Order: sequence, then C-alpha cells, then structure tokens
Amino acid sequence: MTSSVTERGARRPPSTVDDYRREARSMLPRAMWNSLCGDEGELGWETSANNLAAFKATKLRPRVLVDVSRLSLQTTVLGREIGLPVLIAPSGTQQRWHRDGEVASARAAARAGVVMSLSSASTYSIEEVAAAGADLWLQLYVMRNRRVTEHLVRRAEDAGYRALVLTVDRPGGSATPELDPRFAGATSEPDYDFDAEWTHAPALQEDRILKNFRDLDVDGTRFRRPADLTAQIEDSLTWKDLEWLRGLTPLPLVLKGIQNGDDVRLAREHGLEAVVVSNHGGVVVRDARGTMEVLPEAVDAAAGALEVYLDGGVRSGDDVLKALAVGAQAVLVGRAQLWGLTVGGEDGVLDVLEIIRRELHHAMKLCGVADVRRVPRDLVVR
Ligand SMILES: Cc1cc2nc3c(=O)[nH]c(=O)nc-3n(C[C@H](O)[C@H](O)[C@H](O)COP(=O)(O)O)c2cc1C
Repeated sequence: MTSSVTERGARRPPSTVDDYRREARSMLPRAMWNSLCGDEGELGWETSANNLAAFKATKLRPRVLVDVSRLSLQTTVLGREIGLPVLIAPSGTQQRWHRDGEVASARAAARAGVVMSLSSASTYSIEEVAAAGADLWLQLYVMRNRRVTEHLVRRAEDAGYRALVLTVDRPGGSATPELDPRFAGATSEPDYDFDAEWTHAPALQEDRILKNFRDLDVDGTRFRRPADLTAQIEDSLTWKDLEWLRGLTPLPLVLKGIQNGDDVRLAREHGLEAVVVSNHGGVVVRDARGTMEVLPEAVDAAAGALEVYLDGGVRSGDDVLKALAVGAQAVLVGRAQLWGLTVGGEDGVLDVLEIIRRELHHAMKLCGVADVRRVPRDLVVR
C-alpha cells in the first residue's frame, strides 16, 4: 500500500477513508478528479457537500453500562447474511481508477463478506465480474429499447446475480456532461471528455468502455460512447412500468435514487423489496437534501415492509452507525471504495472496508451497541 505524508513529513499507511481520499487525489489527473469526485462543495457539488453535512449534523448519543463484550456486525440484506452492513455502490467505468477495475472491487467484496452492486456501465463484463466469486447485484437503467434491458436481466440471471438495482434518478440520462457546468469549463483545467475518457484516465482501455454493451446490436441500437448509453435511459418511465420489469424476472428489485418518504410509500405499494435513499452521490440534482436528512421520513414510510439502504457521504464506521440508528438496514459506499481502488486495487478496496469495519466496531463499543441489527433510534439526535 502507498502511504500518506504526515505533518512532520514521515510516511505512514492510510488509516482512514480521508487518508485514501487525499492519496487518490494526489494520484489522479485533476480534470478527472474534478469531474468525478468534485471537491465536495466546490464546482457545483452542493449536494455532495449536503450529504457530508447531514452526517455531521447527526450526533451520536452514547449509552454506558451496556454489555459490549461480544459485538455482532453481521446482518442480512434481502434475506442473505452479510459480514458487515456495508455494500459496494454501483459506479461505472471502474477501470478509470485502476486497471483491474470492477474485478478488483468484487474480489475485495468477496474477501470482506459484503455485497457488491455492479454498474451495468462497467469496464469488466457481468460474466467477468461474476468469476470473482462475490455476492453480486446488477444495477441497471430501463432503456428506451426495452430489449436491451431484458438482455442485461437475462445475463445477470445466468451469471448468478442475486438482485437488480434499478436506478431511477437520472431520467433521460440527465446530468450529462453536455448539460452540467460541473463537467465542462468549470475550472482552469482541461475539460474532461467523457467520450475520450482514456485520454484522462491512464488505466482505462478504450475497448473496455461500456463492456456489457459494446458488442450488442439489438434492433439497430448500438453503444460505442458513454453518450450512447445516457441517450438510451428512458425518461417516460413511471411506477406502472415497474410491473414490466417485475414480470421479466423473479429477482428481487431494489429501487435506487429515492429522496423522500412519498416515493418510499409508492415503492411499498408496488411491492418493491428495498429502496436506496440516494442522490447519486450528489451527481444529479443540484442542492438536494443530504441523504441522512431524508432517511427518517424514508424509514417511517417503509414501516418495516421493505428494506431501506442509504448512500451518499458515508466516510467512516461512525457514519454507518448513525444510519443504522435511524433505521437503515445497510449503507453503500461509492467514493470511499473508488479511492481505495485507486490507491491499492483489490487490497485498497479491502482495506477501506476493513477500516470502516474497525471504526464501526469501535463506535459500537463506545456507544453501548452490541448488535448492528438492534441499534436504538435514540442513539442519534440532530
Ligand atoms: C464516479 C461515480 C460513478 C457512478 N456511477 C454510477 C452508476 O453507474 N450507476 C449508479 O446507479 N450510480 C452511480 N454512482 C452513484 C453511486 O452508486 C452512489 O450513489 C454514490 O457514489 C454514493 O455517494 P458517495 O460517493 O458519497 O459514497 C456513481 C458515483 C460516482 C462517484
């Protein structure tokens, strides 16, 4: 593992997610960093900053004289045991960060005993990632050409994926580089060109971009550039259309990108198994609420009938404990995992997960919580 420079100039291995953030930032081309991570608050990344602020505004309220001699960090998601209430969030084109991309992430997930949600816009295929032996869910969008979506669902079923994650917060592929000043001309750096990404991201091989789609030709729908994918994301999709997806497959369906209790209520009425309270890491709507601010109304609306997960701004084990206290079943990590991937590939992702595990364990002990499945809601106050 590479190391960080301390204030005195000595080098030490990264020991927090923030160490990984700093290390990754120093390794990556600036245009890539600005366009994919933002500096959390600058350059129009208000929603990412709101995610962090919402965690900060949620304070722990520790209890004492509780038997914490034996702690359990195990829980279930969609009925399956996981070793830690943390999942790897779907993020596209992971070879941008490290040459082993999603395969490295999946191997780390398998070693840590957590679920990985693979983005359909991955640089290693559904099948290549399945060979890594992790518990996998496939994230997808409903495409204008429904046969493309159906094709992905069949491949996920055949490769042993256990759930589908339908992302619904980018209708019509909005929040694209063409529309969003965050991605073009926002800094003195050269613009990040998503259609020639390999020129910015040293590890990225051009022929791995949109690996799951490259060789497809479904009724003339073809994918070569990222813009071809975003142009295919359906914007007429409504709750009624979910019945079509439900009819295609018995795989459980997780809806990702929910930002209020009203939509959780609808998800419940439509029989969804789970929702992810998420604003896509702040990449879509400008100045939306931080997800930790949304979580209480989402949990109330779910009323125990479906699982609620959260992502956006999770940077430590303490953050995980806060989300569980409010009622999340588990959280997903996006940037934290990508920084681990950048710095150390598979080992870096595993180390990030282990850092979060250690911090969660420590926070539970100090807060009087023995079991992640029973975190009292009054453990936090805003
Ligand atoms: C570089 C990057 C790429 C992403 N790609 C996808 C994607 O392909 N599909 C998706 O549903 N979400 C995607 N996301 C959103 C993540 O799944 C997740 O919601 C977000 O990163 C969580 O916030 P965090 O980064 O603060 O942990 C992406 C996020 C980032 C930062």
